[in-house]
Amino acid sequence: MQTVAWIWSLMFMAVIAAVFLWVAAGASKTGAEKPDPTPAYRWRDRLFWAVIAAGVALTFGTLWDWPIAGHAAAAPKPDVVIRAVGHQWRWQLDRDTVKVGELVEFEVTASDVNHGFAIYHGKNRIVTQAQAMPGYVNKLRVRFTEPGDYEILCLEYCGLAHHGMRAVIKVRAGS
Ligand code: CUA
Repeated sequence: MQTVAWIWSLMFMAVIAAVFLWVAAGASKTGAEKPDPTPAYRWRDRLFWAVIAAGVALTFGTLWDWPIAGHAAAAPKPDVVIRAVGHQWRWQLDRDTVKVGELVEFEVTASDVNHGFAIYHGKNRIVTQAQAMPGYVNKLRVRFTEPGDYEILCLEYCGLAHHGMRAVIKVRAGS
């Protein structure tokens, strides 16, 4: 999807650039404009192309890889896959116990409306979160480093009992 959007953007930009150059080429042919004799005018063309070159350099110089890891085909296979479905108003997990150090992949989705799947350690420390959306699966990878009971709460207001959406993931010391 991202690649498609990128290709379309490039094609759109190429069309805009072509129209721009065509207009610029046509404008110089009319000869209606008299050159301004001031010295500043002579720098105008050079300044124009310098700005264009700087813009192109800046655009390509600031491109970097997508910062969210774990979605690439080359990513390691998870040790545990847990399907997490948000419902009004509860979390449905097909498994609730994992071991410290395991690579856990949550397949986060929803059956009715958008929910926010958030894993907490302790009262106020959020470990990670993802949107739970109907018709779409968000893969959320976590490697728990400390044993304990991790609470799952909802971070997206989803109706009357939104605050009551709670579940627990039990992380046990590895064998
Ligand atoms: Cu589910 Cu808020």
